[in-house]
Amino acid sequence: IEYLNETVKPEEGVIPAYLLGDQTVYDLEHEKVFLKTWIFVGHESEVPHKGDFMTRELSGYSIIITRDNNDEIHAFYNMCTHRGMKLCRADKGNKSLFTCPYHGFSFKNTGDLVGVPLQKDTYGGKIDRSKMGLHQVRLESYKGLLFGTWNDHAEPLEDFLGDFRWYLDILVGRAEMEVVGAPQRFVVHSNWKVGSDNFVGDSYHTMVTHGSIAKLGMVPNATYSKRGFQIHTENGHGLNLGTPNPDFAFPEELKDEYKRNLSPDQYEVLSNLKNMIGNVFPNLSFLISHTKIKDHLISNTSIRMWRPIGLNKMEVIAWMFVEKNAPKEWKERSRDSFILTFSPSGIFEQDDTEVFTDITEAAQGAMPFQKKLTYNYTMGLHREPAEFVGPGVAYDDKFTEANQRNFYKYWMELMTK
Ligand code: FES
Ligand code: FE
Repeated sequence: IEYLNETVKPEEGVIPAYLLGDQTVYDLEHEKVFLKTWIFVGHESEVPHKGDFMTRELSGYSIIITRDNNDEIHAFYNMCTHRGMKLCRADKGNKSLFTCPYHGFSFKNTGDLVGVPLQKDTYGGKIDRSKMGLHQVRLESYKGLLFGTWNDHAEPLEDFLGDFRWYLDILVGRAEMEVVGAPQRFVVHSNWKVGSDNFVGDSYHTMVTHGSIAKLGMVPNATYSKRGFQIHTENGHGLNLGTPNPDFAFPEELKDEYKRNLSPDQYEVLSNLKNMIGNVFPNLSFLISHTKIKDHLISNTSIRMWRPIGLNKMEVIAWMFVEKNAPKEWKERSRDSFILTFSPSGIFEQDDTEVFTDITEAAQGAMPFQKKLTYNYTMGLHREPAEFVGPGVAYDDKFTEANQRNFYKYWMELMTK
């Protein structure tokens, strides 16, 4: 911690390379960040019906998320309270009773232990089932986004998201949204922070890393311009808004629904949106981007988690969202637009992960001077914030690294606590 305090200076734009390549930092992060803050685990639309369930990882530990018969959503540690067997080994399904594969204890989807095989014989009928329910995990929802935490003392989710909710409303609160299919999952040999850092504020790379896509005519060249805003709020959250956009890239039919769900200012931002890319601290990135499909500019909305599974390895889990009430054809085009751009076979994704992998590899060199190498995060340090209709600290174009500095500032706050 002392060494971190000496060497990491987010406000001055100094971030040492070892933050991406040192096992001690990684281990400390698990304890200080991933076991302390709210971590995204899924969307309510993934368990739409009574009895639906899914298993997810919350900071590396398996949890079961259920919707009970009263439509209430719960989260439990995926461990049988008898002898600790993993209770549920399926990714998802529908059932109201979970039976342990080891000795057959059964639990309702409310967590209550309701069945113990041969209990009269084996326990003389004396086992107190009321004390052996599944361990509840703290779970809260914002506009259908489900976050869990292992920290009983964590502030309420709404406070943790704070002002950033204004932007999440545009992302997933603008209309009734649903997740399309199961999330895509793939492994990238990268430290998780490279993903968050890229999405929280790095619009600067697009014209170079993704240059070939504009040359192919798949996105308008102007997509890569610096025009728009970079905004961050407290707790390390941040985003880039690309504006203006002469075309409304969302389903026209839903304009009334958008207006109902958003304030006039938020609606104005949505109507003018070219793209929106950001990150909820620590590792939940999101994106609205546009692609030309058969001469129509079609937006796609997705969120993605950079789930750490090692110092130099992360699982990318990507959820694609679509407006539930959008016309079927629009939904299909939007899905095509997503698959083509951000997915394991997507062109943007492949450009980015190539870079992520190489950065991570270079950060892990065993050179004696490795610890002294620093990255430069000084872009825009000379600039003053600008006026913007939404909350947070805004800059009136996207080419600054203020958001990355804000991300690491909060990261340091947690790491050195
Ligand atoms: Fe689950 Fe024994 S460990 S029933
Ligand atoms: Fe990129």
